[in-house]
Amino acid sequence: MDLLIINGTLINSYGTLHADILCRDGKIFQIGKNLAYENDQIQKIDASGCLIFPGGIDPHVHMHLKTNSGYSADDFYSGSRAALKGGTTTLVDFVTPEKDQTLIQATELRIKEAENSLCDYSFHVSPVEWRTCLPNEIAKMVNETRLRTFKVYMAYKDTIGLDDAEILLVMRAVAKAGGMVLLHCETGDDIESKRKQLIAEKKLSPRYHPVSRPANMEATAVKRAIDLAAEAGCPIYIVHVSTKMSLEYIQKAQSNGQQVFAETCPQYLLLDDASYEGEFDQVCGYVMSPPLRKKEDNEALWEAVRTGIIQTIGTDHCPFKLEQKRLGRHNFTLIPNGAGGVEHRMTLLYSYGVLTGKISVNQFVSLTSYNAAKILGLYPQKGLIAAGSDADLIVWNTEKNQVISVGNHHSQSDINIYDGFKTKGSPDVVVKNGQIVYVSGAWSEFPGRFLETNPF
Ligand code: URP
Ligand code: ZN
Ligand code: ZN
Repeated sequence: MDLLIINGTLINSYGTLHADILCRDGKIFQIGKNLAYENDQIQKIDASGCLIFPGGIDPHVHMHLKTNSGYSADDFYSGSRAALKGGTTTLVDFVTPEKDQTLIQATELRIKEAENSLCDYSFHVSPVEWRTCLPNEIAKMVNETRLRTFKVYMAYKDTIGLDDAEILLVMRAVAKAGGMVLLHCETGDDIESKRKQLIAEKKLSPRYHPVSRPANMEATAVKRAIDLAAEAGCPIYIVHVSTKMSLEYIQKAQSNGQQVFAETCPQYLLLDDASYEGEFDQVCGYVMSPPLRKKEDNEALWEAVRTGIIQTIGTDHCPFKLEQKRLGRHNFTLIPNGAGGVEHRMTLLYSYGVLTGKISVNQFVSLTSYNAAKILGLYPQKGLIAAGSDADLIVWNTEKNQVISVGNHHSQSDINIYDGFKTKGSPDVVVKNGQIVYVSGAWSEFPGRFLETNPF
């Protein structure tokens, strides 16, 4: 059935328009003033007084992630439902193969795991070891499976991390295939020796988590990643940037014309390392990598968001339950790393970015969907309100006040790192592929679709 949204203020990355939107067959069919529609077979939404945003794209989530402490708290169903509630309609998760699996085998299994997602979804694929046939596998992923972003970890060296020489080889292969490399930048060996030292000194509480992976270990890795990418001629995207020091290297590379994209997350904009002071149960939820930094890092990141050094906001959504976090109550290195946030990305960025005057509503769209769509190859299917694009639309009530809490969030975790945060502005109606999936507390569930990506 067609869907007509009337009287909304449409916000795109590149401009604002007061108009109606007609959706047909999952796509935006027409945009115009006072669209006349005679047929009874239509659903209508009056969006008077509301903003309409393109559905959010979270470029960095980990649903149903296997760890030593069991799976992360949200699977694709619960995580995508939380995402939709917050205005995000597309998720980009990760394929992390077992050591003996090819990238293709692991991707096929991961696509199956995501079948219960209510959001549309795509993946970044992680080579977790170097082997001589990897360039062929990468080329196949790009040309046949049509996934073209490959994530490597400079940390987690004992499991999925690669060393610099291996990363250079991956970058060369990805550049040749026409893809992009994403990097988790922290110098893994330095972290390992710092952790060993802290354990030997019996410094085992969560307050030592940020001590074990300081800002310079991220920044050094960022610099190294940029240098390796320059050598390989490979575009890169640095995930979850958390420090001022890293931004200096990123900005320099960008101004030299190198293709270096950067993402940060709401936690690195809004929280700081004071969160690690307290009793275990109160602070263990903040154990994530990279760790929370200083207030001056928050400020530098906001400035980078405002000026465009950072192009995307992901959440790194990877929540655990308290009982899982408690596995590390006697040793912080055993606490599973990660926190949730997929539901709150847009409301937090709107409340603490747009309403404080740090960014405009158009920048808000750039940061929450448009830039991710462009950088990751989902444009023009996603990321904008235009005829022919997917009808993923958020009718945004600018006046709605809420307080984030474990009691009202949709994640399956019993921890929320934003507990108590006040927000203003949230989705009244969420439309995905032309279907109303959420309106005033009522849900209609439709399966999400796997998204291939386009050449950049
Ligand atoms: O602590 C985090 N961020 N856990 C998820 C995996 C990662 O490093 O992105
Ligand atoms: Zn990471
Ligand atoms: Zn992550």
